[in-house]
Amino acid sequence: MKIALLGYGVVGGGVWELLKNDNRLSVKSVLVRRERPELGSAAVSDFQEILNDPEIEIVAEVMGGLHPAFEYVSAALKAGKHVVTANKALIAAYYNELTALAKEHGVALRCTAAVGGGIPWLCNLERVCRLDRIESVSGILNGTTNYILDCMTRQGRDFAEVLKEAQELGYAEADPTADIDGWDIRRKLVISANIAFGVSVKEEDIPMAGIRGITAADIAAFQENGLVCRMIASAEPAEGGISAVVEPKLLPASAPEAAVPTNYNRISLVAEKLGPASFFGQGAGRFPTGFNVVQDCIDIYDGCRNFYSDKAEPVAVANDNVLRAYYLRTDKPELFADMTAGSMGPGLITKPVSVSALYERAADCQFLASLPQNFGKE
Ligand SMILES: NC(=O)c1ccc[n+]([C@@H]2O[C@H](COP(=O)([O-])OP(=O)(O)OC[C@H]3O[C@@H](n4cnc5c(N)ncnc54)[C@H](OP(=O)(O)O)[C@@H]3O)[C@@H](O)[C@H]2O)c1
Repeated sequence: MKIALLGYGVVGGGVWELLKNDNRLSVKSVLVRRERPELGSAAVSDFQEILNDPEIEIVAEVMGGLHPAFEYVSAALKAGKHVVTANKALIAAYYNELTALAKEHGVALRCTAAVGGGIPWLCNLERVCRLDRIESVSGILNGTTNYILDCMTRQGRDFAEVLKEAQELGYAEADPTADIDGWDIRRKLVISANIAFGVSVKEEDIPMAGIRGITAADIAAFQENGLVCRMIASAEPAEGGISAVVEPKLLPASAPEAAVPTNYNRISLVAEKLGPASFFGQGAGRFPTGFNVVQDCIDIYDGCRNFYSDKAEPVAVANDNVLRAYYLRTDKPELFADMTAGSMGPGLITKPVSVSALYERAADCQFLASLPQNFGKE
């Protein structure tokens, strides 16, 4: 089966290497926008050449961004080509359009690498869904934020210093906004929740809080109380739709997520019959991410012709009746007087409050993190 790669960066280069000697799949063309002598005659500068090539059955989009990725992927699906992508921004933003196009044209649309990099998460989520009902999905979906929180916790260092180190090591982008403020994680949560629950939620409806404001003093206070901070995305069916949040969460030091080191990810589900299942591994990187792109291509070679779910019922994000207690640090404590239950180090602790109500005031928090459900009750 012949493949065209759109993009030849970190992930595209990994896919190229992984398929070099494969006898099932071969990369015939690579869309590039500058000279790539190492690709020889495979380098192509005009997407139409790929679209009009009847030999190319799979288009693997690994260039990122929304445009022209959306136009290229849509055109490929309409032309009857299977599409594999690692692009979470694209799938989260155009979930309904792209899954409908794939269905209409009877072709595969796969994006396993888009959530969890090299972790076989979406393909296993699909397997669980075909036999069981998913009750929740949650976990650590971003290596950059985990690296920063893990270093701050183990070494007592400050946020800015650890972020700089993460950038030097290539674990964080020069512009870290998408990671540290939660955007990247929210896209992965949208895709996971949509597949898990057969729904379609809007990215912008999910509240998120990042780790930009966390300090060494916050971490010291958490440690004194036996707590570890991790960036957690979670979603589950709730009254009126799907409850979904992306936020720092304080976990008992004994929780499995608290032990996730450096830039690793850990993604979990709970299903009615199966119970809990968790997946741990590398959420990014040339070979881990390229690995899942190639695995999707092999699934297509083996006959896969679908997306992970054939349902995409539009639903609301419903956090009104979900109650959580929070740690928060603010220079306007008077605004939180009605929900304050105590203090912890430099911050205050709320009583259990509606997640929606808390996020209405999130702009007045310098940092916030949800507390374990039984905090203070053991
Ligand atoms: N890196 C990871 O570990 C990882 C993990 C999971 C998912 N992903 C996803 O995988 C995708 C690719 O990420 P990456 O890290 O490989 O990015 P990258 O290293 O920046 O590579 C992107 C490549 O696409 C090329 N490109 C961009 N727009 C193009 C266009 N219009 N025409 C032709 N080529 C174009 C770029 O060309 P130039 O070199 O000329 O700029 C570059 O070679 C993204 O959607 C990302 O979210 C990445």
